[in-house]
Amino acid sequence: MLIKTNDDGFIHPVPGEITPRAAYQNRRELLRFMASGAAGGTLAAWAGRQALAQQVQRPGKLAPLPGTRSAVAGAVTMEKVTDYKDAASYNNFYEFGTDKADPARNAHTLKTTPWTVEVDGLVKKPAKYAIEDLLKLSAQEERIYRLRCVEGWSMVIPWVGYSLARLIEKVEPLGNAKYVEFITQADRATMPGLRASVLDWPYAEGLRLDEAMHPLTLLAFGMYGEVLPNQNGAPVRLVVPWKYGFKSGKSIVRIRFTEQEPRTAWNKAAANEYGFYSNVNPNVDHPRWSQATERRIGEDGLFAKKRKTLMFNGYEAQVGQLYAGMDLKKNY
Ligand code: MTE
Repeated sequence: MLIKTNDDGFIHPVPGEITPRAAYQNRRELLRFMASGAAGGTLAAWAGRQALAQQVQRPGKLAPLPGTRSAVAGAVTMEKVTDYKDAASYNNFYEFGTDKADPARNAHTLKTTPWTVEVDGLVKKPAKYAIEDLLKLSAQEERIYRLRCVEGWSMVIPWVGYSLARLIEKVEPLGNAKYVEFITQADRATMPGLRASVLDWPYAEGLRLDEAMHPLTLLAFGMYGEVLPNQNGAPVRLVVPWKYGFKSGKSIVRIRFTEQEPRTAWNKAAANEYGFYSNVNPNVDHPRWSQATERRIGEDGLFAKKRKTLMFNGYEAQVGQLYAGMDLKKNY
């Protein structure tokens, strides 16, 4: 996201690996791209990702976590699901490094047992849940959601979890609770990325209470029918499909109900670039780039035309009413 201007791959391709592919695609486009100076890093990053994706742990190695197909409106798309190896090897999880390949390389150090999630703040029944109890709180559903990152890429992932609303109902928010803050794990011993001060740790995110209660907001424990791999936010993360990916905090340890809008990690780092709402919106550009188009990881090649980004990431029918009357340019 912020700070890195290109994500130079960790494995640099030998020219023979990349030239043939480029040659049969669009030579002229490639030459123009090369001339822009961006090509070296991008191609190297692309080749690095291909190599890492081949090494990533394949489905079947992690414990199964089946869920029945969700009946929540909009929770299942017919779009082609992203390959597991891409979803598990191209991530942002800055606690393990800022390169997209770092989480898959480094997150094996994350210790996910024992794990507890504290739910507190403005609630009648604050509680500390062991991850095993949190898992059993509601029936698991499989939901196939698009995840759209602010940097212009997207994936379609079958998540396993349940609506966060189930947990919120259990703890009974008080009348003055207006927001929900999500605080994630920050353990220097197991998270090498914490040594860099790119963000104010712990990574924190927030939602308005009605957004958190929306049936599409998912507390996720698994993906592709298995428990989450560490790099995707094990053992529990959020998935808010109509918002940019950074709103979906990984490896959550605390959920706190507040009256004031909580500060968030990316908003603290660059308030003019990352607002509190962060709804996917093709009409509101990031100050440094357009948000109108996106590339589907593993599907839209480096030279393919990008696809148009949809308002609220395609979930407008389900969530548009949450923002009725709001100026979405101001509340970005
Ligand atoms: N959660 C934590 N704790 N740390 C992070 O750096 N990155 C966010 C989000 N959650 C991040 C995080 C960003 S920028 C994105 S795009 C998504 O995780 C990536 O999620 P994915 O692994 O499912 O692709």
